[in-house]
Amino acid sequence: MTKKRALITGANSGLGLATARALAHRGFDLILLVRNENKGREAQASIQKANPATQVDLVTASLDDLESVRQAANHISTTYDRLDVLINNAGYTPAKLEFTDEGIERSFFASHVGHFALTWHLTDLLKRTAAETGDVRVITLSSAAHMGGRVERMFRRIDTLSPMWAYCDDKLANLLFAKGAAQHFNGTGVRSFSVHPGAVKTNFASDTAGVGGAIWKLMSPFLRTPERGAETTVFLAATPLKSIGERNNGGYFTDLAPKTPRNRDISDKNVQWLWDKTLALVQKK
Ligand SMILES: NC(=O)c1ccc[n+]([C@@H]2O[C@H](COP(=O)([O-])OP(=O)(O)OC[C@H]3O[C@@H](n4cnc5c(N)ncnc54)[C@H](OP(=O)(O)O)[C@@H]3O)[C@@H](O)[C@H]2O)c1
Repeated sequence: MTKKRALITGANSGLGLATARALAHRGFDLILLVRNENKGREAQASIQKANPATQVDLVTASLDDLESVRQAANHISTTYDRLDVLINNAGYTPAKLEFTDEGIERSFFASHVGHFALTWHLTDLLKRTAAETGDVRVITLSSAAHMGGRVERMFRRIDTLSPMWAYCDDKLANLLFAKGAAQHFNGTGVRSFSVHPGAVKTNFASDTAGVGGAIWKLMSPFLRTPERGAETTVFLAATPLKSIGERNNGGYFTDLAPKTPRNRDISDKNVQWLWDKTLALVQKK
């Protein structure tokens, strides 16, 4: 039987690495997309050692650089004949606010715009695979932090924004993007989901200053392991479609089940607005 292939962004650390290990264990071939080649090589070697029959490939790209994402996606589209699962996992809580040349907050750019661009440039490969298998999945890491996000702040340079709100905006965008992708790919066999992994002990928030950082450190003994945190992503990647349910396409999942997300900005109008706005940015480059 032909093996399935999964691409995982931010696969050198935390949830991305745990997800990659779990999928290798389940017989997937892997593409690890990382921004730091040395860190990526370490992850690649350790997964390969534990799973000698798995093809573990490495691609480097920085998600806050659209040209680097486009080149990585082109390389993937011309190198591989199938991509069954795309896991948009990379993301971070900014220690301080930074803006890209476009004047967009950098963590929002990497987490949302970069993943949008990656998915967009891989569309043909995803659809081609789905035309053969009827089953391709795009899984995007969101968070319960989506609750604090606001659409009105997105794409605007707000120098006084706290990094915590910036992160909440990223995670709301991830959730809205997953809904938009489900609509965009409707009828092609490509489905899309977003995930809250729980509070997980990774490199996440390791350099967060102030009260937020202090609270996170206090919580440390109670945080999930990366393996436990990766369970819902692995479920969405590997379980038979009937266990997920067709009506949950576009949905937000936590603890292996769909959950109703809470934010007044979650609406069809905002899903479409975010999709159009991001697409214009990605196509401009
Ligand atoms: N941990 C939690 O409690 C928690 C809760 C809810 C949601 N999440 C979400 O889970 C996802 C994974 O986070 P994690 O907890 O596993 O944190 P992590 O250990 O810090 O891993 C984050 C990964 O993202 C990569 N990354 C960051 N910026 C990037 C960029 N510009 N381009 C490419 N890769 C980039 C990092 O690469 P480097 O190693 O090179 O920095 C790293 O591989 C994130 O989307 C996060 O928002 C986490």
